[in-house]
Amino acid sequence: MDFRKAVATKVSDITDLDLETVNRLVEIPPQDDMGDYAFPCFSLAKTMHKAPNMIAAELATNPSLAAPWISRVEAKGPYLNFFVDRGEYVREVLSEVLKDGLTYGQSSEGEGKTIIIEYSSPNIAKPFHVGHAFTTILGHSLARIYEKLGYKVVRMNHLGDYGTQFGKLITAYRLWGDEEALEANAITELLRIYVKFHEEEKNDPSLTTSARENFKKLEDGCEDEVKLWKRFRDLSLKEFQILYDRMGVSFDNYNGESYYSPLIPEIVDMLREKGLLEESEGAQVVKLDDKKLPPCIILKSDGTTIYASRDLASAKYRYDTYHFDKNIYVVGLPQALHFQQVFAVLEKMGMPYAKNCEHVGFGLVKFQNMKFSTREGNIVTLEDLLNESVAKTYEIIKANAETRNSGMSDEELHEIAEKVGLGAVIYTYVKAGRERDIVFSWDTMLDFEGDTAPYLIYTYARTKSILQKALASGISPVASGSDLLTKLSGDEEFACAKMIADLPDAIRKASASNEPFMVSRAVSQIARAFNRFYNNCSILSGDDEEIKVARLALCQCVCDCIELGTYLLGISVVDQM
Ligand code: ARG
Repeated sequence: MDFRKAVATKVSDITDLDLETVNRLVEIPPQDDMGDYAFPCFSLAKTMHKAPNMIAAELATNPSLAAPWISRVEAKGPYLNFFVDRGEYVREVLSEVLKDGLTYGQSSEGEGKTIIIEYSSPNIAKPFHVGHAFTTILGHSLARIYEKLGYKVVRMNHLGDYGTQFGKLITAYRLWGDEEALEANAITELLRIYVKFHEEEKNDPSLTTSARENFKKLEDGCEDEVKLWKRFRDLSLKEFQILYDRMGVSFDNYNGESYYSPLIPEIVDMLREKGLLEESEGAQVVKLDDKKLPPCIILKSDGTTIYASRDLASAKYRYDTYHFDKNIYVVGLPQALHFQQVFAVLEKMGMPYAKNCEHVGFGLVKFQNMKFSTREGNIVTLEDLLNESVAKTYEIIKANAETRNSGMSDEELHEIAEKVGLGAVIYTYVKAGRERDIVFSWDTMLDFEGDTAPYLIYTYARTKSILQKALASGISPVASGSDLLTKLSGDEEFACAKMIADLPDAIRKASASNEPFMVSRAVSQIARAFNRFYNNCSILSGDDEEIKVARLALCQCVCDCIELGTYLLGISVVDQM
C-alpha cells in the first residue's frame, strides 16, 4: 500500500481537487509531532472562499477521513496532519518487501519503452581517467535504475576512436613505436609516443605533414593505416575491458565515432536539401542564431568531418536501429554546449526524436591530499584510484579482522577488500547530485561510520550475520502479512519502515531526474535507521519470541533493501567483513 497516495485519495475524495494534484501537494512534515503526512490547504482557499487555517480545521473533523491505518488527523495552522497507525503501517511496508524480496521497488512504468544510455565513451589510445570513471559509474547505475522500472535499456559506448590524432599516432608509431611495449601496456606506450610526437613536431614540421597524410590514408581506407589503427583500437579496448569486467560494467554496442564517419554524407545531403547548410569562412555550418547558439560546424574547410557531425549521424543511427523513446548522453558538463548544438540541428532537420535526446552532465573530479604512483605522468587513472582504494581497504579490514579474531583467510580478506574498495570509489561518485564537483579523500570515503559504501556494506553484513545466527538456532523471520509485524511500533522500528517505504519513490525520482544519488541517499537512510534501531533494541536477545521473529523480519527487509539499492548503484555487497 502506498500510504502517501492513500492519504491523497482521502483528501481528494472530500475536496474538489483531483488525486494527482493532491498527491503532488502532500508533504512529509519535518517533525514527528506534525504527523507522518501533511496536506497544505492553501490551494483550497480560492474555491472554498475561506482562510487555509479554517479549511484545515474543518476538514480535520470530516468523518470520511477515518480508516484503520489512520490513527488521527489534526489541523495545525494551514496544514492537515495525518498520523498513521504505526503497527498497521509497519506491517504494510514490511509485508511488501517480504513478499517481493530483491524485486521490491520494481515497476512497469517503462514497459514497452526503449531507452538508450550512452556512457563511458573513452578515447582510444588515451588513459581511462577519473572523468571517464564518472560517466561509466553514473551511466551504469542509470541503466540498472531504468531496467528496474521496466524499460528496455540499450547501453552504448561511443568510443573516441576517430580523428586527426590517429594520423599522428601512425606517424609516431612508425618512427618510435616499441612493439613489445605496445603488447604489454598498449595505452602507456601509445601515450608515450603521442607525447613524443608533440615534442618533436615543434622542430620538425614534416611530422605534421606526415600525420595529415596518414590520417587522409586512414580515411580513404588504405590497408596498412587501417590495420595499425585497428590494432591500436583493439589493444586499447582490451585494456578498457579489464576495467569494465572488474566493475561489472557491460555494453550492448561499442560503435565508436569511426563507425559514423561513412554515415555523414547522408546527413550532409539532408541538411543541404533543407537549406540549412551555409558557408562560413570556408567551412559548412548550420546557423543557430534563432536558438541563441553559435553555429554548428558540419564540415571543416578541408572537407573533413568533425565531432558534431559524427554525433548527428549517431543520433540518426540510434533512432533507426532502436526506435528509442529516450536517448541519454552521460557526458561531462563542459560538453553541454556541444549537445545543445547537436540537438538544435536535429530539431531544425525536423527529426521527431530531437526532443527525446538529453544530455546528462556531471561535474569535475578533484583530489584532496592524495598521492598516487601513476604510470601515466600526472593523470590519475581509474585503475590507480581503484587499486589504491582496495589496498587501503585491505589494511583496514585486516586490522579489524585481527582485533575481532574473525578467522578469515587472507584470500577472503582480499576478496572483500576488492568489493568494498571498489564500492568506496563508486559511492563517492554517486552520493551527491551529479553536477557537483567531486572531491576524493581517503578519510571520507573509507570512513566505516560515514556516508560511505563501507558503512552500507558493513550494515548489510550485520543484517546477514543476525539472520544467519537466528537461522542457526532455528528462528526464522515472520512472513509477509503477519499480524506480529504490527508489534513493531516503536520509534526506531517505525523510522526504519518509513525509510524502507521511501525507496521505491526514490528509485522513480532517480530515473526522472537521472540522479542516482536519490537512490544512494535512500539506501543510506535505511542503513542509518537500522543501526539506530540495532543500537537501541535487542533483536535476538529479548525474551518475547513474537517480537524477536518480527524484528528479524525487519532485519530481512533492511538486508534486501541495501542489497537491491547498492546493486542499482553498481556496488557489490559482502556477507561478512
Ligand atoms: N570521447 C569523448 C571524450 O572522452 C566523449 C564522447 C561523448 N559522447 C558523444 N556522443 N559525443 O571526451
